[in-house]
Parts: sequence; C-alpha cells; structure tokens
Amino acid sequence: MGVGRSRTKIPQTDCVRRPAVAQARTMSGPRILLVVGGGIAAYKSCELVRQIRKEGGEVTCVLTEGGSHFVTPMALAALSEKPVYTTLWDLKNEAEMGHIQLSREADLVVVCPATADLMAKMAAGIADDLATTMLLATDKPVMAVPAMNVRMWQHAATTRNVQTLRDAGVDVMEPDEGTMACGEYGPGRLPDPLAIWQRIAWALGLGPVEVAPLPGSDPFASARFDESEHRDSGDIDLGGLTGGMVSQGRRKSRQAITFGDASFSHEDLGFTPEEAALAARKGEARSAPATDPDSLHPLREGPLSGRHVLITAGPTWEPIDPVRYIANRSSGKQGFAIAAAAAEAGARVTLVSGPVHLPTPPGVDRIDVESALQMAEAVRQALPADIAVMVAAVADWRVAQAADQKLKKRGSAPPALLLTENPDILATLATGPNRPPLVIGFAAETQDVIRYATEKRKRKGADWIIANDVSGDVMGGDVNAVHIVRADDVISLPEMPKEDVARALVERFADALPR
Ligand SMILES: Cc1cc2nc3c(=O)[nH]c(=O)nc-3n(C[C@H](O)[C@H](O)[C@H](O)COP(=O)(O)O)c2cc1C
Repeated sequence: MGVGRSRTKIPQTDCVRRPAVAQARTMSGPRILLVVGGGIAAYKSCELVRQIRKEGGEVTCVLTEGGSHFVTPMALAALSEKPVYTTLWDLKNEAEMGHIQLSREADLVVVCPATADLMAKMAAGIADDLATTMLLATDKPVMAVPAMNVRMWQHAATTRNVQTLRDAGVDVMEPDEGTMACGEYGPGRLPDPLAIWQRIAWALGLGPVEVAPLPGSDPFASARFDESEHRDSGDIDLGGLTGGMVSQGRRKSRQAITFGDASFSHEDLGFTPEEAALAARKGEARSAPATDPDSLHPLREGPLSGRHVLITAGPTWEPIDPVRYIANRSSGKQGFAIAAAAAEAGARVTLVSGPVHLPTPPGVDRIDVESALQMAEAVRQALPADIAVMVAAVADWRVAQAADQKLKKRGSAPPALLLTENPDILATLATGPNRPPLVIGFAAETQDVIRYATEKRKRKGADWIIANDVSGDVMGGDVNAVHIVRADDVISLPEMPKEDVARALVERFADALPR
C-alpha cells in the first residue's frame, strides 16, 4: 500500500483465455457487422474475420461493389460461415428491409478497410448502396479502420471527413505507418488484424484481454439493446444524416461499456476476494472511489472541490516474455506532481500509474498497471471524470504475441519481434461516449515542439496538449518548461520545478471548467 489514499493493482490477466470457437459458439459472442470496402487491404478483412471468430465472435459481412474487386463473397462467406450481403436491390432480403435488419442484429459495425470514398460518403450521409444505406440506418456503434495511399490519407478532404466522423462518435482508428502497396511510405496502412480485434474488444467494453465467462453465464447479456435507453439519452443531437446515424451509435457504445463485469470470477482474474469486492464496487460506480477505508480522509476545499481528476503517469512496460519487456525513460514525476497538485486543489484524484518508484501523493487513489492495455482498461474503468490529464508515456506498440515461457538463445539467430499497435488511450478517451469535459494530453517532442503538439491536439481530439521539449534531460529530471497548446492560443511557461509546473497547470484546469 502506498502512503496515499489507496493503491490498486490491475491483475495480470494474460493467462485467462476466451474459450475456443466451438465452445464459444454455444453461447453468444459479440456480433460484428463487417463492411468491406474497395481497397487493396480488403484481403486483410479475411484475416480479421478469422480473428474475430477465433475470439468467439460472429461476423456478418457486407461487401461493397469496390470491395468485390479485391475479395470474393465466396471467401468471406466461407470464413464467416454466413451469407455475404452485396446489394441493396435484393428482392428476397429487401422484402423484409434487410439493410435495416442487418444493422440491428449486430453489437458493432466495423468498416474495414474504410476507403477514402466510404468515409466521405459516411461523413456526408450518402446512402447509394447497401453498405452506406446500412451505415446511415444503424443504431449501433460504428468503427472505421482506414487504409489508403498516404496522400489520400493526408488529403484535406479525408482529414475533414475523418474529423466529422470522429466528432459524430465514429471510432476511426489511426492507420499504421509503413511502405504501401504502391511503394510510397507513410501513414495509411491497415493496422494488424490483431490490433483491430483489440480495438473491437475495447469498443465493446470486453476489456483488453481474453477472458473466460463463468460456465452458464452470458458475458454479453447486459449489453443487449434495451429500448428504454433510447428515450432518455442525453446525447447531443448532431442534426443531419450523420448526426442521426452516430448519436444512436453513441448511446449503444455507452451501454456496451457495461459488458462483462459480472462474468469473471475473481480467481479467473487473479483477484483476492477482497480485491474482487473492491473491483465490483468500482464497476458499479463507473469511476474510482476511494478504496482503502483506513486512509479515507476528507478532501480539501479548493478550486477543484467536487471534481474528479483522472491522471495517467509513468511509462508502460510491454512484455516480450515473462522476464523481458519494452519500456521507455518516463519517470512519472510530472504526472505524480500534477496528481499531488490536483489533490491539494480539492479534487478527488485517480492516478493510473505505470511502473515507477514514486510514493503516492497524499489524498490520491492510485492504480498500478504495467502495460498499455492495462492502462487503457484502468482509464476506462475510472470514468466518468471532470478532467483527464494523460501524462503517461504509453508505448505505441507492444509485442504481438508475448511468449508464455522465457525465450531461449537458439543458435545465432535472435528472435524476431512482431509489434502491433497499442490502443490510443488519449484519442479513445477524447472521442468516446464518456468524454470528460476537459481532456488534456502531453506531447514529448525533440523538435518542432509546438507544431507537432498543435497537430497532435487536432488529431487526438484533445482540448489542450501540454508540450515539452525532451531533447535535454527532462525525462527523469526535476525541472520542465512546457507550452500549453489550446484551440486558439499557446501559453509558454518558463522552466521551473515540476511541482510548480503542476500547480500552474492545475490553476488553469480549474479556470477552464464551467462553474
Ligand atoms: C488497385 C486499386 C487499389 C485501391 N486501393 C485503395 C485503398 O487502399 N484505399 C482507398 O481508399 N481506395 C483505394 N482504391 C480506390 C477505391 O477502390 C475507389 O475509391 C472505390 O470507389 C472505393 O469503393 P468503396 O466505396 O466501395 O470502398 C483503389 C483502387 C484500385 C483500382
């Protein structure tokens, strides 16, 4: 236990496995409606179908006209073991309004690959084929996985369309960077199907890990649609076709986030019974209450009294095998200093920390994690919050398949490590249904600090980015000079101790919140 209010350890759950497909099919897994667009990466949608089914999910495919030039309906039908839908003008299906029914029978609609054309149509509310009509008609959360040439991805029209979709609640993944089929280099490649599956699991609130439901339980039952939720949702009406499409999707994703909490035994997850009871209480509250009764003390009066501030700090460790990991140089000092300053200002503070050697600041609820996936899950569980300050240096990538046993030297060839993208915690938080009113990210740059931070602010959907130049010894050091990059201005603070930076930032957080 730390010196502060409380300290909770997110369990290592990698050893807990979802049942194999045959077993999973006897209970209902997540139902994915997969729209396959007309891009060169469409062949990877076949791999995605296999991945989802391997995890116990069901997939129904809608193939666009463009998509059918890259993969055949037969391949998708064989892999999904379901009919593949290709046309709106199908007398048999449309006699029963097939395009509406299709979307209603899914938990999540995934567009993969999401071509520039498909995203443009989605953003504009065009409905000129089965896929786009269904996307407009759906009341389910929608996720898009773009893949295209780097120039197409960076084109102002695509940037605008992606922003429109994100603003409207569609979860648009960032493409990977690398060499394209056309030979050019840059962002635009389809992420690894495993990373797409992780994002699907995240979107459905299944958690970042493979988990085994208790015998006889239905892990997805709580997410089934409850029509009463429709009526009193507080969603903003975005108006127009996209608004209609997406605000309903948001309602669903909010509901879907309650998935599964009741489905795992505490032994399955590595909890002691006491920790399980605390975790269950946390799940009910949908935020991180003070968990250690002995250390409870009244919160201070201050400018953040009555507010919940969620902070991440430190590095993440991405396991290679049970004894090795990939890490970075973040010390956690700046994030811990912000947590301390926010608690001093009267806030209830939840600090999700990567592995660091720092004491818990007084009055702070601390949750220790190691990997980016665990950090993402802890952040999700800690919501709602009034302010989210994402200071942690989260690894962009993790090893796609960490070894269960220590890797051994074999001959002279070192093992090849295949990396896969981690969830983007900041962007997910900033665009998700439980978005805190003030979302703040950090950008550690070694050059063009303000320019990169300005781009990052827009790309991630954050309100502010706190940018700092880490080309010196900021990482691990005690002083910092930061720029607060906001929508309309940039405030540059002089170099000062990290505690003073923290207090200066917390003052501004308090000023920025609506009274
Ligand atoms: C060989 C080839 C590869 C293509 N690859 C992509 C791609 O990766 N991403 C993309 O957005 N468009 C790509 N296009 C263009 C799309 O196929 C075109 O915009 C089409 O209308 C998209 O159809 P959809 O709306 O059904 O996805 C490609 C076209 C060709 C001929």
